[in-house]
Amino acid sequence: MKHYVFTDLSSHFLRTARERFADEPWVHKMSFATVDITAPLADQLGGAEHDGYDVVLAATMAHNSIDVDALLREVGVLLAPGGVVVLIETIVEHAQSLTTMPFALSMPDGSGPPARTDVRAGSHRTYLTAHEWTAAMVRAGLRPCVDLPRNGHPLEAFSQRLLVAARPDTPTTHAETHDR
Ligand SMILES: C[S@@+](CC[C@H](N)C(=O)[O-])C[C@H]1O[C@@H](n2cnc3c(N)ncnc32)[C@H](O)[C@@H]1O
Repeated sequence: MKHYVFTDLSSHFLRTARERFADEPWVHKMSFATVDITAPLADQLGGAEHDGYDVVLAATMAHNSIDVDALLREVGVLLAPGGVVVLIETIVEHAQSLTTMPFALSMPDGSGPPARTDVRAGSHRTYLTAHEWTAAMVRAGLRPCVDLPRNGHPLEAFSQRLLVAARPDTPTTHAETHDR
């Protein structure tokens, strides 16, 4: 039976999701878990009690990792054969995000965001570029297979990207081959 695990760090988002999906006919196939992507994932998700995830979907949250290389490596281990990780990420550090996100992500004692140990190390950046994400996916042993919107597409103006990477043993799709 297919199952969806909805995760977040914040009890607010988990509570909102429980309420939002409560009347859906498939809600019995959904569970909820507090997960902090700055800590090891497998323990938080019940260790080896699952057969691997077909899809790991993270919408505008993977940049909260302290080290995206470590995060993607861990996610790669969690994927089932044929599994994919789907990211929606802001990929441009606009002045607005540079001036607000370090405050929004500050620690409760006001010491600022946790120091990143990935490509953002030593900077105040919150986001990675699309190229940095795909390079990190490759370093993590995953195969980037979707990067949308394409260059020059009107949606590019929103600075948001859909990035998908597959386990390397996943067969290449027709669309993927066609895209290149
Ligand atoms: C911009 S919101 C996106 C929320 C939702 N995914 C969406 O697309 O509407 C960023 C999310 O990342 C979560 N988050 C922040 N730090 C996190 C962490 N260390 N581990 C897990 N989730 C985290 C926040 O609680 C928040 O839900």
